[in-house]
Amino acid sequence: MCGIVGITSNKQVISPIINSLRKLEYRGYDSAGIATLNQGFINEVKCEGRVNALEKNLLKSKLEGTVGIGHVRWATHGAPSTINAHPHSSEKVSVVHNGIIENSTILKKFLIKKGHKFKSQTDTEVIVHLITEYLKKNDLKKTIIKVLKKLHGSFALGIIFKDYPDMIVGARRGSPLAVGYGPNENYLGSDSYALKTMTNKISYLNDGEFCILKNNSVEFFNDIGNKINKKILELSENNENYDKGDFKHFMAKEIEEQPVTIKNCVKEYVDKINNDINIFNFPWKVNEISSIVLIGCGTAFHSCLMAKYWFENFTTLDVSVDIASEFRYRKNKFKKDALYVFVSQSGETADTYASLDLCNKNKMKTCSIVNVVESSIARDSKFVLPIHCGPEIGVASTKAFLGQMLVLYILSLKISFMRKDIDKETYVNKIKSLFTLSDLIKKTLETDSKTQLVCNSFVDIKGSMFLGRGYSYPIALEGALKLKELSYVHAEGYPAGEMKHGPLALIEEGMPVVVIAPRDEYYTKTISNMQEVIARGAKVLLITNKSKDEIYSENIWEYIEVENTTDDLLPFLITIPLQKLAYYSALKKGYDIDKPRNLAKSVTVE
Ligand code: F6R
Repeated sequence: MCGIVGITSNKQVISPIINSLRKLEYRGYDSAGIATLNQGFINEVKCEGRVNALEKNLLKSKLEGTVGIGHVRWATHGAPSTINAHPHSSEKVSVVHNGIIENSTILKKFLIKKGHKFKSQTDTEVIVHLITEYLKKNDLKKTIIKVLKKLHGSFALGIIFKDYPDMIVGARRGSPLAVGYGPNENYLGSDSYALKTMTNKISYLNDGEFCILKNNSVEFFNDIGNKINKKILELSENNENYDKGDFKHFMAKEIEEQPVTIKNCVKEYVDKINNDINIFNFPWKVNEISSIVLIGCGTAFHSCLMAKYWFENFTTLDVSVDIASEFRYRKNKFKKDALYVFVSQSGETADTYASLDLCNKNKMKTCSIVNVVESSIARDSKFVLPIHCGPEIGVASTKAFLGQMLVLYILSLKISFMRKDIDKETYVNKIKSLFTLSDLIKKTLETDSKTQLVCNSFVDIKGSMFLGRGYSYPIALEGALKLKELSYVHAEGYPAGEMKHGPLALIEEGMPVVVIAPRDEYYTKTISNMQEVIARGAKVLLITNKSKDEIYSENIWEYIEVENTTDDLLPFLITIPLQKLAYYSALKKGYDIDKPRNLAKSVTVE
């Protein structure tokens, strides 16, 4: 989703802005642009498409400047085009924006009446004209305070001004914004990752705050313009490898990394010597919790759904699961003895953040499971459990899904043992199994050639279904989501037992259906449901685990067998061929695997 960069320096800023925009490319975008202030004039260069195209345009235009703002845009108001790309500028100001201005139509009418002329279809352009209008009668600080008050919705903003030559203003409501500190220069960025090549000293704006950056100073203000102090955080120097290496796509790399990321995460949380789970500084007594609410979006929601099965099986807690975009607007009955768990790879998803914020405002116990530990969700949760899987660049979540599931599994075990819901022997046995998981994932990755073969049947199809029961139901949803988002094929995940209640009507001769039936307690039931779809012409790809027992079923088109492990760990293995199926189907179609159309990695608007 949209990404912002701003640099004020005593040196030229085009090339570092381009480098930072490249760091934001992973978020998914459709156009890009830069504006600078040079010799008293604001100039902008924009284009539809990628940062590479922007760089070519910049060479032609010879844009220069020591103060500048850059942007990658994910279209919300107005189609992806050069005219709608950010920055948007008047003679006096230039603005980059991440978020949505909900009252832009009303503000536009007001501004048109005042004589302002609009060039784009964006909501952002109203901010440009509003600032220009208010600057006529107010100084800069008053203008910013008044304009921010007028805006409804969410935003992170970067603004430069013709009459304030070395200055960038940043402002935040809802959408994240970071400030970085450098020698004779300071930076603004949508996230610290964008600024990491320039600095490891970062502060974050909170909702309602704005900042004024000059090349030798940084000031922060609250919504009424009172100066506030900010902590400067030092980001850890990690040498994580952000390159694709020999892989064609980040997604392929991230799938193959899973044995390592799972091993690292187990190491972080599990004490091998004492066969215990280390969750230090858990801020609540376990008997203060009698229910758990798991909240996320997309793939993260699927890991929450998976965790419901584990929590229900291992503990006596009441467990509910919610999609963040629904939770945040429902009339929730907040309960003091509930633990609210927010799951998010990026830690910046707008709906998940808003749900967390709502729980914090209602003084609830909030815990987050995130990959990006410097994110807004991590910072604002009372307790954080990182998934330790390193940067995930491919838009489609893979290793983060396994990481989220692992941390949720570990949390469910620890809580169940602390509550005495499971005995020591069961606890220790489950912990021991965790140490085998990384190798089992590694072996399961060897199903690769079979997946490459079967994917041909998922390329040119009208649609597909993914069916599973129990632990396999959330995985069916995830498998369908991966296929649809990467290869743009309609795919539905369904509980296998629900087919008779409507979806069976969709089954046609030759339709590929993925049936997930590991030899767990649901196996025979799922196999019966599989027969029902085969009888109606479906071409079934069965995903199960290795076993000495034969599969008692005829007319299965193809099957993939993952390694064998305990029922509750099988979902980790079953996920692997589903990730690969989506990957290879998209590869066959020549699609942009790391940046699927219309999607963004960090969903910072609701
Ligand atoms: C799908 C996918 C998305 C994300 C969702 C939430 O592959 O990646 O569905 O899971 O946008 O994102 P996070 O986890 O960053 O909150």
